[in-house]
Amino acid sequence: MLRGQSLTYDFGHHMGTLGDGIVQGAAGADEIRTAPLWGLRGRTPFLHDGRASTVLEAIQLHSGEATTIRERFFSLSEDDQQAVLEFLNSI
Ligand code: HEM
Repeated sequence: MLRGQSLTYDFGHHMGTLGDGIVQGAAGADEIRTAPLWGLRGRTPFLHDGRASTVLEAIQLHSGEATTIRERFFSLSEDDQQAVLEFLNSI
């Protein structure tokens, strides 16, 4: 029982408009599991439904719980945004 509860709790993040609209078990329509960022450079397209063709687009589409992180990314200087993208494209 405890195990089930913790699995439920850890299931996903509320991602607002990035959700898949699917209610499955305890996971609501806007809940999505975090994708591992390792191996990003060998992957395309991005996000669970492939709606982003670049990493930048994937970041732009972060919503819900990840809204703050999206706003922080876009308030970085252009050089710093580029540095984050270069890092993400190197792993
Ligand atoms: C520096 C901060 C972040 C960066 C650069 C980042 C970047 C990314 C990228 C590039 C993807 C696409 C991965 C793929 O398709 O293989 C992704 C997916 C995802 N991220 Fe983030 N992310 C950040 C922070 C967050 C935060 C704070 C949350 C939640 C609280 C979050 C939740 C997710 C989820 C749920 C997915 C999967 C979405 C889907 O498959 O549609 N991310 N992230």
